[in-house]
Amino acid sequence: MSSESKPRIAVCPGSFDPVTLGHVDIIQRAAAIFEKVIVLVSINPTKQPMFSPEERVEMIRTVTRNLDNVEVETSGGLLADFVKKSGATAIVKGLRAVSDFEYEFQMALANKKLCPEAETIFLVTRSENMYLSSSMVKQIGYFGGDIYDFVPAEIQDKISARLSGLGADRITIEGVEN
Ligand code: PNS
Repeated sequence: MSSESKPRIAVCPGSFDPVTLGHVDIIQRAAAIFEKVIVLVSINPTKQPMFSPEERVEMIRTVTRNLDNVEVETSGGLLADFVKKSGATAIVKGLRAVSDFEYEFQMALANKKLCPEAETIFLVTRSENMYLSSSMVKQIGYFGGDIYDFVPAEIQDKISARLSGLGADRITIEGVEN
């Protein structure tokens, strides 16, 4: 290993539509390991988002404002290109259940091929967040349920207001969707 010290930068990518307490936990834990964490609001072509990338960035900035080494950005391109450009050496993702694994494994392999200089690192979710997903939050909120245990307090009203104006056909719950 070179004696030259390089900042250890991690990218924490996701749809974050919206950011949940589960995401915040993973971001906090990544921030405790890496010198700098870039939370990347990225485009998942299989999902139709409820919040614009700018709104998602804003919500994540609000809930991570106490973390000095966390930045939030958005990109419409390949994650691997962003990782290279940012000088990151790790992609950090949360892993909830076996149902997440196949999809995450596939993405990790593709990203390793596209960006060999970065490793994908999985942080295992806390047991209390095992079942938590952005799509579940959207569905509970849409039907008037209480989302307060699932998303950070500072953004609850924004999420509830948006959900009350939506049609249920915009909201799905699938095993790997978050
Ligand atoms: O929170 P999600 O929806 O599971 O996150 C998936 C995401 C956004 C990280 C993934 O779809 C992604 O990396 N999109 C950017 C485009 C890209 O690089 N696709 C190839 C991934 S192998």
